Amino acid sequence: MKINEIKYFDHIVIGSGLAGLTTAWRLGQTGRSVAVLTKREIDNCNSRLAQGGVACVMDALDSFDEHVKDTLTAGAGMCDVGAVRTIVEAGPEAIRELIDLGVKFTTRSDLGIAEDGASYDLGREGGHHTRRILHAGDITGAELERVMVETVRAMPNVKVFEFHCVIDLVVSRRLAIGGPNRCFGAYVLNVATGDIETMLAPTTVIACGGVGKVYLYTSNPDVACGSGIAMAYRAGARISNMEFIQFHPTILHHPTIRSFLISEALRGEGAVLKCRENRDSEPVEFMHKYHPMKSLAPRDVVARAIDSEMKRTGEECVYLDIRHLSEEKLRLRFPNIFNKCLEAGINMAHDLIPVVPAAHFCCGGIQTDVNGASSIQGLYAAGESACTGLHGANRLASNSLLEAIVVPKFIARDIEGKFDALSRQMPPKELALNWTTGNATDSDELILISHNWDEIRRFMWDYVGIYRTNKRLERAKNRIKLIRKEIEKYYWDFIVTADLVELRNIATVAELIIDSSLKRHESRGLNYNADYPYLDPELECVDTVIERDL
Ligand code: SIN
Repeated sequence: MKINEIKYFDHIVIGSGLAGLTTAWRLGQTGRSVAVLTKREIDNCNSRLAQGGVACVMDALDSFDEHVKDTLTAGAGMCDVGAVRTIVEAGPEAIRELIDLGVKFTTRSDLGIAEDGASYDLGREGGHHTRRILHAGDITGAELERVMVETVRAMPNVKVFEFHCVIDLVVSRRLAIGGPNRCFGAYVLNVATGDIETMLAPTTVIACGGVGKVYLYTSNPDVACGSGIAMAYRAGARISNMEFIQFHPTILHHPTIRSFLISEALRGEGAVLKCRENRDSEPVEFMHKYHPMKSLAPRDVVARAIDSEMKRTGEECVYLDIRHLSEEKLRLRFPNIFNKCLEAGINMAHDLIPVVPAAHFCCGGIQTDVNGASSIQGLYAAGESACTGLHGANRLASNSLLEAIVVPKFIARDIEGKFDALSRQMPPKELALNWTTGNATDSDELILISHNWDEIRRFMWDYVGIYRTNKRLERAKNRIKLIRKEIEKYYWDFIVTADLVELRNIATVAELIIDSSLKRHESRGLNYNADYPYLDPELECVDTVIERDL
């Protein structure tokens, strides 16, 4: 392993999902140099899998006030009202800018509903009181990612480094520079060569996506290891509200097709949830027992209701029934889901779709203001890695793509005002090149990495999932402490590989989730703890903040 020369840029963006690439595009518009670091291929990200769409006020009958209200209701008293309003109100303009770049949202004429090609079809999802979800069929994330990849690739001043896995941030505390903690870039593992590269820039933006892989069952892809949150925590950033992990209620339940989302947009088109009383009975509706919005209730309510029905009946899944729509209509509106279900032997027009909840979205993350600025100077965060205050204790469906589109604009504006001052504070070269790898030798015990990985994901699912108790959380805490100790020893004793970096990040994030859940002594939004089954009004808007003692 070689420790290479330093590479300098004006801006570093870590992550190449929608938030990362939108940030790179916005920053690159100044003509300055931008490095995008991504641990696999550029489009290997969670954004690409988003089906539902972008929540945005686009209809004359809708209003910012209504969108804000639905967001605050879903957020269960934990949203930052100012951030919510700012992001919601900036939505329509940001959407128009993406349409100008080439994003094609589905129009009503695409669906044969209207002649007028310019009016967009607006879907509905859980917690929204009206239709306000712009979508591109049922592959909205893939369409957005396609356009942003093309856009960024066409910018000569933006350089994308694929298969470059960030190990840690370069921060002043680590370099023993006094004063407030500042970020100068990242130590990066070049996966192809195994070399560690030091990349420096006055500003670094973390947009590494979510944490789904911390759990055994998730809708997220393999890359969702919480790496951005973990590296920011190690660097000393404030991390907030990690107890609020959203479980999507409807992931396809199938022996071989894993992690496939059945979009909430189906329920927006009238699909209802049903459950069998026992193996021989016909499935019947149950959501009326849990919420007046029934199958379109906010996600936390629906996921808990499903969990409780599955435990009550002993059944291994519940069902979605959308048989009131014709095959023709289903193929037009949900082509991707329709085909995937067919692959699983399910024709949605005639059959019930078996579904279960799975980890989907992290509402907490690196604490930032609405401009994406973290508690470390020069370090920003965007998308699922960030906690801007938009989502509170439970994200309203399709608000995350909105945030990923809007906040990068604010980040670029904020950076513009601070860039010169931050540029003057860069550290001397000798200080920045201080990477040490301990006694690096080849490991013949790599099996332990996959074993630790599996163990974490299983106990997080069993003990820190939809239903929590103090005893379960304490058990999880004991286990994660041991595993983290083992990993740190590995980390310093063996050659750093991408797998080891990811395991280390998963373990850090798991502990952050456990510690945050232990700190919240109430049940609110996505955090349900049977030992504190009630909401405590005193804790409204009180963030759970964890900051490493350096
Ligand atoms: C879905 O399509 O159900 C997911 C949308 C989201 O998570 O916002």
